[in-house]
Amino acid sequence: MSQIELRPGLADVPVAESAVSYIDGKNARLEYRGIAVETLATESCFEETSYLLLKGDLPTQKQLADFDDQLRHHRRIKFRLVDLLKSLPETGHPMYALQAAVAAMGMFYPARDVTNAQSNWESVIRLIAKLPTVVAAFHRIRHGDEPIKPRDDLDHAGNFFWMLFEKEPSPAVRKVIDACLILHAEHTMNASTFSGRVTGSTLANPYTVISAAIGTLTGPLHGGANEEVLDMLGEIQTIGNVRAWCDDAITNKKKIMGFGHRVYKVKDPRATVLQTLAECVFADAGRPASYDLAVEMEKVLAEKLGSKGICPNVDFYSGIVYKALGIPMDLFTPIFAIARVAGWLSHWLEQLQNNRIYRPEQVYVGKTSAVYVPLAKRP
Ligand code: CMC
Repeated sequence: MSQIELRPGLADVPVAESAVSYIDGKNARLEYRGIAVETLATESCFEETSYLLLKGDLPTQKQLADFDDQLRHHRRIKFRLVDLLKSLPETGHPMYALQAAVAAMGMFYPARDVTNAQSNWESVIRLIAKLPTVVAAFHRIRHGDEPIKPRDDLDHAGNFFWMLFEKEPSPAVRKVIDACLILHAEHTMNASTFSGRVTGSTLANPYTVISAAIGTLTGPLHGGANEEVLDMLGEIQTIGNVRAWCDDAITNKKKIMGFGHRVYKVKDPRATVLQTLAECVFADAGRPASYDLAVEMEKVLAEKLGSKGICPNVDFYSGIVYKALGIPMDLFTPIFAIARVAGWLSHWLEQLQNNRIYRPEQVYVGKTSAVYVPLAKRP
């Protein structure tokens, strides 16, 4: 029998050296390449933040202009990819459509030689540029509408909004979407990033790497939590029900969606920024009842779970913001993917720099030297 110590969920087990981002879970600090995420969310834009994550440093003005230009020129998707999206069931979750489309992109843009830096960079650009187009196209198609072509004159956030609704966002709404993309762009060694790195370690092509990461993000314990938060708030219905609902959840050991984190033992700094952004959106769009419910829930749960370090995470407020912008619930996790692709790709490039295939150990608890009884002799 093996004597290796098992750490369920690989808790506290380092799986790679990484210079992409840093979390201090006790002090609510998240940095991308050393820069606080709050600063990036207010001062930067998604394009610049992506460059920072990928390259390690902030771009010069020319580098940013070139990078932005490349992204704008690779937003369109092949008509066959649109055909593929049209052939998927309209009731299917957009995350599955996104995963399928990204896997298929590996056939449209062969990139099997991952030792080729130029080809890798082209894949990086295509993936960041095309994910919003795929998500918006599937959303239109499932409602019987033709996809809206991307516009080169809009930035990443503004163009995504345009392709969804065929209208330009107000500057305030554009800023909120942009900031949400920045806040979700990277988060150290989380499940989907690890999944992407494991797939990348086999030298699989980048589209396969990203489709693996997208699949991992779909789960309700990870990216899927933002949808579940709204379901939960819908179930609670009124502020008067919050306390009893929380008591019942705690008594019955129910996981409260949008709360808790493996690393943060205080409120997730991204949740704090999102709350400020939410207030900006509500100044325009009106304050939804779900926000007041969420604030009350945070207060009640601080009394009950705060001492255990179970506090709101990024997903607690993100869905409320998206809903206020008129974005359908099942697009919340795809938006997470549109943002996180920058982080996944940064980790993929980092993995390739010093690659060794992931091949962990197991603690075997099964039988050994079992006897094979021929079928005829079995009852
Ligand atoms: N509600 C109630 N209790 C909780 C919660 C929660 N949301 N999260 C953790 N706990 C309790 C858990 O029951 C356990 O208690 P005990 O020690 O008494 O058994 C203890 O805290 C440790 O929890 P865990 O599940 O072992 O912690 P983990 O690090 O394995 O899981 C987590 C982290 C995020 C999966 C978990 O907190 C959770 O399921 N949260 C709800 C889902 C969610 O909001 N996910 C989004 C995460 S942030 C965005 C992202 O990364 O995708």
